[in-house]
Amino acid sequence: MADKDFKPSGFGTLAIHAGHIQDPNYAHLTPIYASSTFVYDSAEQGMRRFSGEEPGYIYSRWGNPTFTEAENKVASMETFGLTDSAGAPLQARALLQASGMAAISTLLLMNLKTGDKVLSHFSLYGGTEELLQNVLPALGISAVIADLRDPGRAEAAIKADPAIRMLYFETPANPTVQCVDIDALTKVAKLHGLIVACDNTFATPYLQQPFRYGVDFIVHSTTKFLNGHGTAIGGILLGRDLEFMKTKATRIHKSLGGNSNPFDAFMLVNGMKTLEVRMDRHCHNAMEIARFLERHPAVAKVNYNGLPTHPDHAIARKQMRHPGAMMSFELKGGLQAGIDCMNRLRLCTRTVSLGTCDTLLCHPASMTHKSVPAAQREKYGITDGLIRMSVGMENIQDILADLDQAL
Ligand SMILES: Cc1ncc(COP(=O)(O)O)c(C=O)c1O
Repeated sequence: MADKDFKPSGFGTLAIHAGHIQDPNYAHLTPIYASSTFVYDSAEQGMRRFSGEEPGYIYSRWGNPTFTEAENKVASMETFGLTDSAGAPLQARALLQASGMAAISTLLLMNLKTGDKVLSHFSLYGGTEELLQNVLPALGISAVIADLRDPGRAEAAIKADPAIRMLYFETPANPTVQCVDIDALTKVAKLHGLIVACDNTFATPYLQQPFRYGVDFIVHSTTKFLNGHGTAIGGILLGRDLEFMKTKATRIHKSLGGNSNPFDAFMLVNGMKTLEVRMDRHCHNAMEIARFLERHPAVAKVNYNGLPTHPDHAIARKQMRHPGAMMSFELKGGLQAGIDCMNRLRLCTRTVSLGTCDTLLCHPASMTHKSVPAAQREKYGITDGLIRMSVGMENIQDILADLDQAL
């Protein structure tokens, strides 16, 4: 924003302008600062920068102007319109990461120590599940998994195990789009002194702002809707305790080395400017497709939280602006029907990931959730015949025609 005191009236304006820093050479867009280090006018200035006495960049693992623009933009979006307990505009600090998994692992490692436990939901991204179940236990950090759609069960789990230090969830979750009640869960967790963290990747801050309910940390895989064009892997970690983010979080982030890079940060900044218009179109298309699939004779079940038949429809309505652009569905013909349908697609793209302009379909049981044991997958609704779809922004009649001929 040319005038930094200008107050945007809506999310669209904010997404375009927030976080922008005037380039010293007057470039319109913040450039790709492809430089590993930053120089000093004198040794004394270098000393002042290292001691924190003087602001300024030092080394790109620690910070870089292109990262700063991305960090400030996401922090502005996640806090837009929110206030703190004193009624002042809520502030958050963000650390740009190399991937969503770098954001999640940095979050867990900066908050937990040997002997601590994380309470989480059974419906989670496969990589997060792998980290919780197979990587962190070697450090003495383990997970307690409960059905967090019932805050009563969450409270019972917390009371039963005093080692639980953190509540961690995704909502909507990958790939069943199950939702948990952020407000109710945060209240329960705070009553018992837990740290609360939310993966907001599927919703984005345009659809849902977890800080509104007192969540402490938010993580995103920016690879998805925030970037919006599938051009870069990335992640971001946000916290609303500014002092913690500036001190311990930054120290651990620097040591773990999960920083982004200037090119990916540039792609992210420019992708995020269109978040509002993209999400409106994604969500509008998703609703039409869910209604179409629900009526289709070849389809056994549609998981889309915008449909009143989805068990978490009411929660999604309560905490999300629109129900989102992710859904999954099961075909009556099971696994083979799913494979045949995927192979017949003419417009939609067969791939993992999500959040790009084009419609993407994948098969979680053999792809994103392959590392999750079959019995566990089935129990959590990730059946062999389940197909996940990230609804794109093509003209709706083209997506519907493609799905129709493929089904
Ligand atoms: C909900 C969610 N969180 C985190 C991740 C991990 O993100 P990344 O692949 O950027 O490391 C993914 C990846 O698909 C995801 O879907």
